[in-house]
Amino acid sequence: MHFLLPLSSLIITVVLSPLSDAATPNCPLLGPVFPKPRNITTNSVMQAAFANFTSFLQGRDAAIEGQMNSYSLEVFSADDQDTSAFTWYHTATNLPSFNSTGVTEVDGDSVYRIGSLTKLFSMYTFLIEAGDYYWNAPITDFVSELQVIAANKSGNALTKVSWNDITIGALASHLAGLSSDTSVMGELTQSVPDNIELVYLGFPPLPEADIPTCGTWPECDRAQFFNVLQRFDPAFAPFGTAAYSNIAYQILSYALEAITGKSFEAMLDESIINRLGLQRTFYNAPYESIGIIPGTVKSTNWYYSLGEENPAGNMYASSSDIARIGRSILNYEILSGPQTRRWMKPDAFDADPRAGIGAPWGIRRIHMNDSFAQTYRIVDTYDKGGSISVWDTFLALIPDYDVGFILMIAGNNINDLEMQFLDAWGDIIIPALEATARDQAGTDYAGTYSAGASSGNSSASKLKERTPAAPPLGVSVAEDSINPTNKTLVNAVAALNATSAAVPHDSATLNSSLTIALDEKPGLGVTSWISNGTDMMLTVKQLMTNYTDPYWVNLSIRLYPTDLVVTSDGTRQQSFKAIFEDLASPLVEKTYSTACATWIGPTAYVYGSLALDQFFFTTYSNGTVTVDPRALRVTLEKEAPSSDKRSVRENHVL
Ligand SMILES: *[C@@H]1O[C@H](CO)[C@@H](O)[C@H](O)[C@H]1NC(C)=O
Ligand SMILES: *[C@@H]1O[C@H](CO)[C@@H](O)[C@H](O)[C@H]1NC(C)=O
Ligand SMILES: *[C@@H]1O[C@H](CO)[C@@H](O)[C@H](O)[C@H]1NC(C)=O
Ligand SMILES: *[C@@H]1O[C@H](CO)[C@@H](O)[C@H](O)[C@H]1NC(C)=O
Ligand SMILES: *[C@@H]1O[C@H](CO)[C@@H](O)[C@H](O)[C@H]1NC(C)=O
Ligand SMILES: *[C@@H]1O[C@H](CO)[C@@H](O)[C@H](O)[C@H]1NC(C)=O
Ligand SMILES: *[C@@H]1O[C@H](CO)[C@@H](O)[C@H](O)[C@H]1NC(C)=O
Ligand SMILES: *[C@@H]1O[C@H](CO)[C@@H](O)[C@H](O)[C@H]1NC(C)=O
Ligand SMILES: *[C@@H]1O[C@H](CO)[C@@H](O)[C@H](O)[C@H]1NC(C)=O
Ligand SMILES: *[C@@H]1O[C@H](CO)[C@@H](O)[C@H](O)[C@H]1NC(C)=O
Ligand SMILES: *[C@@H]1O[C@H](CO)[C@@H](O)[C@H](O)[C@H]1NC(C)=O
Ligand SMILES: *[C@@H]1O[C@H](CO)[C@@H](O)[C@H](O)[C@H]1NC(C)=O
Repeated sequence: MHFLLPLSSLIITVVLSPLSDAATPNCPLLGPVFPKPRNITTNSVMQAAFANFTSFLQGRDAAIEGQMNSYSLEVFSADDQDTSAFTWYHTATNLPSFNSTGVTEVDGDSVYRIGSLTKLFSMYTFLIEAGDYYWNAPITDFVSELQVIAANKSGNALTKVSWNDITIGALASHLAGLSSDTSVMGELTQSVPDNIELVYLGFPPLPEADIPTCGTWPECDRAQFFNVLQRFDPAFAPFGTAAYSNIAYQILSYALEAITGKSFEAMLDESIINRLGLQRTFYNAPYESIGIIPGTVKSTNWYYSLGEENPAGNMYASSSDIARIGRSILNYEILSGPQTRRWMKPDAFDADPRAGIGAPWGIRRIHMNDSFAQTYRIVDTYDKGGSISVWDTFLALIPDYDVGFILMIAGNNINDLEMQFLDAWGDIIIPALEATARDQAGTDYAGTYSAGASSGNSSASKLKERTPAAPPLGVSVAEDSINPTNKTLVNAVAALNATSAAVPHDSATLNSSLTIALDEKPGLGVTSWISNGTDMMLTVKQLMTNYTDPYWVNLSIRLYPTDLVVTSDGTRQQSFKAIFEDLASPLVEKTYSTACATWIGPTAYVYGSLALDQFFFTTYSNGTVTVDPRALRVTLEKEAPSSDKRSVRENHVL
C-alpha cells in the first residue's frame, strides 16, 4: 500500500521524534565505506599491523604449534605485482623426523593439498567457461543419468530426490538438499570394512545388495556413482536450507562438461592454470618433491585421488599461486566486474547471523564495532576452507578492500591453529585495512572544494563544458557506468558523452563549495555544502522533511564510494553516493523497527534527472581533485593546503 507514495514519504517515516535526546549511529550502505586502500606494503598503519602480526606468528613458530606444523600465510592486495604484501613461511621443527620425501623448507612455492578449497577453483572455472547464465536451469537438462533417475525412480517426496527442481545454482550454493557425499566419505561400510564391527556398533547386518561395491576404495566410476546416488533419500527439499555437499560439485563438473563439450580438467587448465601461468597448481597430484608432506606419501595419502569427486576436493597448490588466482578475481581479470560482484554475494543465510553461504563461499560478516559510530559497519569476507588428511587451507577475499588472505597448514593443526591464525588476521589486519582506507581517503579527498576565483564562463573557467574526448585506445574502463551487466568501452564512452551533455550555467564567480572531513564515522563526511550562496544542508533538511518545521535536527551527510569507476591516463573518476540521515532521531531497534535501512533512500531527489545525492570525484595525475555534485551541474576544485593556495590560484588565471 505504500507502493504509490513518493519515496520521500518513506524516508520521512524514519524520522520518528527529532526532539528526543537519543541519537543513532550512521547506517552506511553495505559495502566499502572508503575507496579501496592502496599500496598497503608501504603504508605505516599496515606496517604496524604487519609487525604486530609478525610477533604473533613468531610466537606460534616457537610454540608447540610451530614444532608440529608447517605453514604458508600470505596477505595480498589486488594491486600487488608479483609478490604478496605480506608473507610468512614456517617449516615445522619436527619435519626432519618424518624422513619426508617432500620439501625440507617451506616457501611460497611449496605445494599443499588444498582439499575443499578446490571447490572455489571449480566454481571459478565454471563461471569462466559458462557464466551463470544456466543458474536456474534444472540439472536434468545437462546430466542425462539424472534425467533417467528422475523419470524412473519410484517413491514420494521423502524418498525420491526431486532432480527436476534442482538447478545448477542450487548445486553451486549448497541449496540442492542433497547428501554431502555418496560412498567416498561417510559410508560406514567403506570406512569400517569389517561388517561384524558395525553390528557391534549397533547397526543391523546388511544384505549384500545394500553394500556399495565402490567408494573410498575402489572408487566408483561415473555409472557406479549414479547407481549409488539414486538409492539416497533427499536430505532436504531443494532450496529448503543450506547443507554442504561434495557430490554437488561432482555433478556440476558433469554439467559443465555437457555445456562446453570439454573435459573438466582441460577447462581448469585452460581457464585458470595456463591462463595465469601457474607452475604450482595441479588438478592431480604432482611429484612429491615439491610438496610439503609431514609424513610419507603413503601415510599422508599424497597421491590418493578422489576420482570422479576430484572437482570437490582434489587440487594441489602453492600459496603464491593462490594469491595470483585471488588477484585475478579481485581485479576482474577474467570475469567481468558485474559477474564477479554477483558471484560474491550470499545465496543463503546461516543460523549464525554473522555467517552466510554462497557458491561455494562461506561468508563471515565482521562487525567493525569498536565504537558507537561503527555500530552498523559490517565487512563481509568471502571465504573457502579446505581440509584433507594432514592439510588445512583457507582463502579469504574482502571485496571492500580488494585484499585477500591465504592460510595453508601441513601438520596436526594442534590447538586449532587454523582458527588462531584466522582470528589474528581478523583482529589485527582487517581493522588496519579499514584504518588505512580511511587515512588514504582523508589524504585524497578531505578539504574544501570550491568554484574558486576563476569560475564563470571565462576562458579559464572550471565551469566550462565537460567534454572529455573519447578515451584513447588502451584506456582502462574499470566499470561500465551505463549498463552494469555490459562492460564495454562503447558504453563507457556513452556515459562520458552523457556527462558532457550537461549544460553549464552562465555566471561570474559562484559562491559554491563543498567541505569534506574524515572522522571516526564511516564514509566521507560533508561538513559544509554551499550552492550559489545557498546552504544546501538546509535545503536537504527541508526536502527530507517536506518543508515541515522542525527540520532534521542533526543532519549527517556521508559519501560512500560506488563501484562506478573510470580510469584513463592517470585520471581516475569515481561516483560516490550521499546518504542523508538525522542522527538526532532515537536509536530504535525492535522486532521490525530499525534505525538502519539506508538502502531504501538513495536517489530520492533528482533535479533535471541528475541526482541530488550523486557526486563524481576526479583525481588527476597532477594532484588536482575535483567534485561534481551532479544535480548542481558544477565542478568544484579542491583547494590546495593554505601554504601553496596562492600559486595554484595564479596558475588558474593563466
Ligand atoms: C508535502 O507537503 C504538502 C503540503 O503540506 C502535501 O500536500 C504533500 O502531500 C506532502 N508530500 C509528502 C510526500 O508527504
Ligand atoms: C604506490 O606506490 C607506488 C610505488 O612506490 C607509487 O608510485 C604510487 O604513487 C603509490 N600510490 C599511492 C596512492 O600512494
Ligand atoms: C627416519 O629415518 C630414520 C633413519 O633411517 C629412522 O630411524 C626413523 O625411524 C625414520 N622415521 C620414520 C618416521 O620413518
Ligand atoms: C526408464 O523407464 C523407461 C520407461 O519405463 C524404460 O524404457 C527405461 O529402460 C528405463 N531406464 C532405466 C535406466 O531404468
Ligand atoms: C557495538 O554496538 C552496540 C550497539 O550500538 C553498542 O552498544 C556497543 O557498545 C558497541 N560495542 C563497542 C565495543 O563499542
Ligand atoms: C596487536 O593487535 C591486537 C589485536 O588488535 C591488539 O590487542 C594488540 O594490542 C596489538 N599489539 C601491539 C603490540 O600493537
Ligand atoms: C559568458 O558570459 C557573458 C556575460 O556574462 C556572455 O555574454 C557570454 O556569451 C558567455 N560566454 C559563454 C561562452 O557562455
Ligand atoms: C553490450 O553492449 C554492446 C555495445 O553497446 C552491445 O552491442 C551488446 O549487445 C551488449 N551486450 C549485452 C549482453 O547487452
Ligand atoms: C560520443 O560523442 C561523439 C561526439 O559527439 C560521437 O561521435 C560518438 O558516437 C558518441 N559515442 C557514443 C558511444 O555515444
Ligand atoms: C545564482 O544565483 C543567482 C541569483 O539568485 C541566479 O541569478 C543565478 O542564475 C544563479 N546561478 C547559478 C549557476 O546557480
Ligand atoms: C557564500 O554563501 C554562504 C551561505 O549563504 C555565506 O555564508 C557566505 O558568506 C558566502 N560567501 C561569500 C564569499 O559570499
Ligand atoms: C591538473 O590537470 C587538470 C586536467 O588536465 C587541469 O584541469 C588542472 O588545471 C591541472 N592542475 C594543475 C594544478 O596543474
